[in-house]
Amino acid sequence: MKIVGLTYDLRTDYQFKDGDPEDANAEFDHPSTIDVIAAAIEANGFKVERIGNAENLLEKLASLKAEIVFNISEGLSGRNRESQVPILLEMAGIPFVGADALTLGLTLDKVMAKKIFIAEKIPTPKFFEVSSPAELINTNHHKFPLIVKPRFEGSSKGLSESSRVETKDELARQVDYIINTYKQPALIEEFIAGQEFTVALVGNDPVEVLPVVQIKIDGKLKLNNKFYTFARITSDRLEYICPAKITQELKKKIDELALKTYKAVECRDFGRVDFRVDNEGRPYVLEINPLPSLSTEDVFKLVAENTGITYEQMIGKILNSAFKRYNLN
Ligand SMILES: Nc1ncnc2c1ncn2[C@@H]1O[C@H](COP(=O)(O)OP(=O)(O)O)[C@@H](O)[C@H]1O
Ligand SMILES: [Mg+2]
Repeated sequence: MKIVGLTYDLRTDYQFKDGDPEDANAEFDHPSTIDVIAAAIEANGFKVERIGNAENLLEKLASLKAEIVFNISEGLSGRNRESQVPILLEMAGIPFVGADALTLGLTLDKVMAKKIFIAEKIPTPKFFEVSSPAELINTNHHKFPLIVKPRFEGSSKGLSESSRVETKDELARQVDYIINTYKQPALIEEFIAGQEFTVALVGNDPVEVLPVVQIKIDGKLKLNNKFYTFARITSDRLEYICPAKITQELKKKIDELALKTYKAVECRDFGRVDFRVDNEGRPYVLEINPLPSLSTEDVFKLVAENTGITYEQMIGKILNSAFKRYNLN
């Protein structure tokens, strides 16, 4: 029986430090998610070797039995955190599921990713970046409302109701908060009112674009000023609707952009693209996640079931895409 290694970061392993925001461990998985993914890999006829995080991998690297590693590790901090496990595996010559270190670093850093989107003519909200609060004094050209995000985080880290700003004072306060709390530059974007969607993709050649998922917040699809905050993720005010209630025309635009984005940053095996669509029906790519959550509460289970397969079969599809890529089957 083939052995599949599993690399991950557990929420329960994270030690909170003084000054950490409450969402410091938001990117990490619950132990139950790891159990569910391990069980799904086993349901596809493999044995699972649980490895743990990058440090655990480093200790076990020479004695690993796994033929391939299913990597969902987020890493501890910095824009290269998601690249740490992949680069160790690449150095050791061990095949792994999912994007490589370059793609993970490029996309975790939203400013770098947006530069690629612009070069590839993928629509993305207009933006600027601020590394120190003093820089704001000279910037007068922006049009409110804006949204202030950390430059390299995920899981809506750093996002609260105060992230959407309408005045210079609010902007300065929020930029200051992001820089000081998350120890990184602030990414400031024009705020796109309207609707929100996310699209999961699986495979390589060909890539399968899965049904569009629409985000409903507080029972509404027309979101206007509402957006995905850290607090909302952990509440029941957020729902996923699949398939999205949209016209064929908009679906076609979103599908094409999702695929173009996946290819532009060289995603592999699976990924997820987040969109806002303005009130004129124009889609904007917010970001691409080459390491999207596979938790059963997230969208992968939902889209699997929407296409008539189980969660376990979806995990099998992702794994098989990697096997095929390495000519392992
Ligand atoms: N430019 C924007 N306009 C409107 N809402 C936004 C914008 N950027 C982010 N958001 C909201 O914030 C959420 C998180 O932003 P995103 O860029 O996807 O970062 P991440 O998911 O990595 O935390 C989005 O799902 C969306 O609800
Ligand atoms: Mg997102």
